[in-house]
Amino acid sequence: MMEYSVGVIGLGFVGLSHAVSLASAGYRVIGVDIDREKLGAIERGMPPFKEPGIDEVLRNTIGRSLIVSSRYEDLKEANIVFIAVNAPTTDKGQDLSQLESALDGLARAWRGLNDYRLVAIKSTVLPGTTRSLYKRFKMLSNMPRVGFASNPEFLREGRALEDIRNPSRVVIGGVDAESSEVLSGFWRDYYKRVGVDPPILVVEAEEAEMIKYASNVFLAMRVSFANTIARICEETPRCDALNVLYGAGLDPRIGVDYLKPGPGYGGSCLPKDTRALIHYADMHSIPVPLIRAVEETNRIQLERIIAILEEELGGIEGRVITILGAAFKAGTDDVRESRSIYLARELIRRGARVRLHDPLALDNARRLLGDIVEYHRDIDSALRSSDAVVIMTEWHHYKNIDWSKLKPGTLVVDYRRVTDPVSLEKMGIRVRAVGLSRKK
Ligand code: UGA
Repeated sequence: MMEYSVGVIGLGFVGLSHAVSLASAGYRVIGVDIDREKLGAIERGMPPFKEPGIDEVLRNTIGRSLIVSSRYEDLKEANIVFIAVNAPTTDKGQDLSQLESALDGLARAWRGLNDYRLVAIKSTVLPGTTRSLYKRFKMLSNMPRVGFASNPEFLREGRALEDIRNPSRVVIGGVDAESSEVLSGFWRDYYKRVGVDPPILVVEAEEAEMIKYASNVFLAMRVSFANTIARICEETPRCDALNVLYGAGLDPRIGVDYLKPGPGYGGSCLPKDTRALIHYADMHSIPVPLIRAVEETNRIQLERIIAILEEELGGIEGRVITILGAAFKAGTDDVRESRSIYLARELIRRGARVRLHDPLALDNARRLLGDIVEYHRDIDSALRSSDAVVIMTEWHHYKNIDWSKLKPGTLVVDYRRVTDPVSLEKMGIRVRAVGLSRKK
């Protein structure tokens, strides 16, 4: 087809990861974002978030194959534009205002152009949204030949570049056959350049949108399932949910991956997408007790941690409680919807003194929590004379802690299973670990 000139609107986690990946494969890429502070950082070669490998790829591409700008007009020459702005879930449903304003900006830049151009929506949106955004865009841009497609992404934080380069699948849902063809052609070209051959699935736009929800809600369901089995194991003599879930997961129909009990799923996607699909089902009067239960299970997982602390400490008020880990999972500085943040707030509400440690995410945590907790960059100082320690993120740093420094009788609540409870108990430390029965 055409010589590709790529645009990316929204230089957050998804957008910037795509922009640098495409630029380093040799495409000319223009990235547009309205946040000038973010643009300034990107121009200096500093990504606004932590992601393995991204610093180097950004430094190698910025100012060369990758240009960033705050002006939609700069997208005039681009013929394939990915939209990767947020579509948050609010009480009223999905908030499309960022998508609409990005598309309005692009429609102005492209207004009246006669040659074929394509818009690909990377943002997670409810079924039907891509098609209705297309109608609006066609009207505003007054373009006779514009393509439009849903092109959801499945990348994980902490592995974004790797997941773009080597995805489990590429899902393409054009609003018409030509859109799907052009977008598949582009991705085939990219994957040829990087030398991999992932499955490319061409479906209806609505199906592509639904695939993203089906995937994320299924993942959320696995976590809630693991946490349910963990809770039952905790009350069953000599049971460890890690062994039980591994034993179940060896059945290839189940699988051992993504079945680890913990403090509940967090992050910018699973909680938001689960809520959005419930909202969508409500709007269409579809009963979805399964998905509601996934969410409810996630909520009570946090209550469980608080109940353990109340029970073991004989009350939370006035206690010094150290939370190890603020990020919603290891390998990222992202604290969005992190269970840790919820836990910290609830413990403060109940009168505890809370200390928070994280190797990467303390600055982001401070933005959400302000001065209500103490921030510790050093693990030893975070642990010194604490009454209880709760492990909320599976950072490898927490595997090698010298627990013998804790005062005897200290409670360790290990919600990521990074400790060896037997050796801790030998040191006189009380341990409560997710999924591990205390009954003999
Ligand atoms: C998730 C999906 O995994 C990606 O495929 C998807 O593209 C992305 O959302 C998105 O929609 O953008 P991510 O939010 O980076 O990716 O995080 P996950 O690695 O999926 O973890 C989500 C949460 O579940 C974390 O809090 C994690 O700790 C928890 N989790 C995960 C468990 O408690 N146990 C597990 O076995 C796995």
